[in-house]
Amino acid sequence: MSTKTLQKSLRYRHFEINSRLRYFKPESAKSNKTFAEEISRSLNQKEKSINPKFFYDIKGSELFDDICELPEYYLTRTETNLLKTIGNELEKFVTADMRLVELGSGSAVKTRLLLDVLTKIQNKTEYFPIDISDVLQESSLKLLEGYENLSITGVIDSYEGGLEFVEKYDNKPNLIAFLGSSFGNFTPEFGFAFLQKISSIMKNNDLFFIGLDLIKDKVVLENAYDDSAGITANFNLNILSRINAELNANFVISQFAHYSLYNEKEQRIEMYLRSLEDQKVEIKKANLQLSIEKDELIHTEHSHKYSISQIKNIMHKAGFEIEKIWHDTNKPYALFLASKN
Ligand code: AVI
Repeated sequence: MSTKTLQKSLRYRHFEINSRLRYFKPESAKSNKTFAEEISRSLNQKEKSINPKFFYDIKGSELFDDICELPEYYLTRTETNLLKTIGNELEKFVTADMRLVELGSGSAVKTRLLLDVLTKIQNKTEYFPIDISDVLQESSLKLLEGYENLSITGVIDSYEGGLEFVEKYDNKPNLIAFLGSSFGNFTPEFGFAFLQKISSIMKNNDLFFIGLDLIKDKVVLENAYDDSAGITANFNLNILSRINAELNANFVISQFAHYSLYNEKEQRIEMYLRSLEDQKVEIKKANLQLSIEKDELIHTEHSHKYSISQIKNIMHKAGFEIEKIWHDTNKPYALFLASKN
């Protein structure tokens, strides 16, 4: 499809940064609720909560990068090490015209490991990062420096929007990567619907590649989400600073504490902010006056952990055929490569 036809049919604006880098962005913002509306709804409940997608302002993204380096947070390290060892095997599944589509613009390290596999067998390689934020641009420019034959088409949109864009784009095969165990932050119901969405837009020659943290020793899990340096605590508390700054609120950060636990029955880490006092908070832009009791919990995140057999089952039901599983047994973590069934 030509760029013009594509822009028209998909209602995307097109930005050409240079001959190897361009972006597509929806013409009008989709009718997503605003930060203020979501916060107003989720904190105005008996069981207060804040959606974890709001962790990632600039400071929150930096803190998450710091988390990935922590000795206790094995997820990023384990996944990266797995990716480093499987290159030759993954290469067997990749075709000469397959492009890399990544959900989330990803960490440069992991993206490079995948691009290394593609560029090894391709004369020209295409990379389509899909991310809701504009951060794409900076990381893309850096990536281009390392690969002469790479071109990047960023899609600045929700994952669902970006997947539909890719579906309509052309008939080239896609390797759709969703790494970092981000799937674990979805509720099982939403996660299942999301997998169905992915399989529904896939062609027979597309592949889906997902990295997932697995069930393991409770202490190892709990330490990964409550590190001794307190970085995860700062990451969790930062969400209140963000609400203060963006929604004109007056949370006193020192009156809250990070609290997390592994719920064995639900197979998930649960993360909360615990109020250290009886307190009142005003969030002006959300039109909200809150009374928060001492020890009351504000839920901020779930991080679900699965077994390999559970994932096989979920993926099969969502329309996938598993091609290969790579698995770290020391800190259980798995990479699943699947096609559409
Ligand atoms: C982004 N996501 C996969 C992280 C996780 O492990 O659930 C977010 C995180 N929360 C606390 N530490 C890391």
